[in-house]
Amino acid sequence: MVYAAFRSIGAYVPQKTLTNEDLTRMVDTSDEWITKRTGIKERHIATDDEFTSDLGLKAAQKALERSGIAKEDIDMVVCATISPDYFCMPSTATIIATKLGIKNATAFDISAACTGFVYILSIAKAFIESGMKKNVLIIGAEKLSAITDYSDRGTCILFGDGAGAAVISATENKEEAIIDVHTSADGEYADLLMTPNGGSGSAHDALDKEAAGCFMQMKGNETFKVAVRTLTQDVKDILETNNITSESIKHFVPHQANYRIIKAVGDALKMQPEQVVLTVAKYGNTSGASIPMAINDIYEEGRLEAGDLMLLDAFGGGLTWGSALVLFSPLQ
Ligand code: ACO
Repeated sequence: MVYAAFRSIGAYVPQKTLTNEDLTRMVDTSDEWITKRTGIKERHIATDDEFTSDLGLKAAQKALERSGIAKEDIDMVVCATISPDYFCMPSTATIIATKLGIKNATAFDISAACTGFVYILSIAKAFIESGMKKNVLIIGAEKLSAITDYSDRGTCILFGDGAGAAVISATENKEEAIIDVHTSADGEYADLLMTPNGGSGSAHDALDKEAAGCFMQMKGNETFKVAVRTLTQDVKDILETNNITSESIKHFVPHQANYRIIKAVGDALKMQPEQVVLTVAKYGNTSGASIPMAINDIYEEGRLEAGDLMLLDAFGGGLTWGSALVLFSPLQ
């Protein structure tokens, strides 16, 4: 039997920061409101000539180096993004693979918004367990500043840019394998979070970005309530299905959208503060990149050790949601 193991992590954040104070000069808001309602203090913003693939590339380079697996042995590259370099094609994954010098591997993007990393983790796991692939590079990369309306105070205070990546590889040792990944979606809630124009559903005259239709629009308060309810249930389910208690979790790594959502779900699961990984204050919501960026933070702080059990959970546009029970199993 072949299993999938989580071997390494890497991340990259652009240098420039956008603080709450900066935002008060752009929209009618305050540091106090943003901090109280979201927990966010600042986010990182890519430069005009820095694309999503550039962020993803730097994160992927770190993850590859740390994996001990040669780039020649990577047979699939998957990128989760809602802010790809190009609308439709080529995929951001193919651009990153080529810049890394990975040739002839399968490469594609997926769109699951903030749940993107959990989705690509499940894809890597499934391909490896089926025997179709051996070493899969997964990347969550976002330049959300490119699809953010900086005149809408309800959304522009939330989002930031960044990327995170991981290498998942085959193992015969069940003791080091990813335990479980859940993914779900419900299009009934599609209108809570969307970029309404720019796709095949748009009239040609609405394709102009000036019409702001390519920017993210969100019914924040409704999304908040569905997020807390859905995530709490999903995380309880994955723990119960696998007969694992919340005390056994070393690191609870939730999607970093809003401190209040994380706190509500963490409290419902009786997580202790030291179990909960929090990066929302410094990065804001980086959608599909937020979970691997948070894992990278605890790795670089020396808090993530071989054998540690992580519980991941995420929620985003679609609506999509998912959770995962993952052991950190580096080869080196
Ligand atoms: N500064 C000051 N006031 C503001 C701001 C702002 N930046 N934004 C909104 N307000 C005002 C509103 O206009 C409203 O005023 P009113 O009462 O006079 O009408 C008031 O603050 C309350 O607004 P709410 O939207 O109810 O505020 P809420 O407490 O819900 O916080 C937030 C808004 C932060 C967006 C929250 O709803 C949230 O985090 N939602 C979930 C986001 C999420 O998880 N999305 C999924 C992932 S994202 C993805 O997939 C890409």
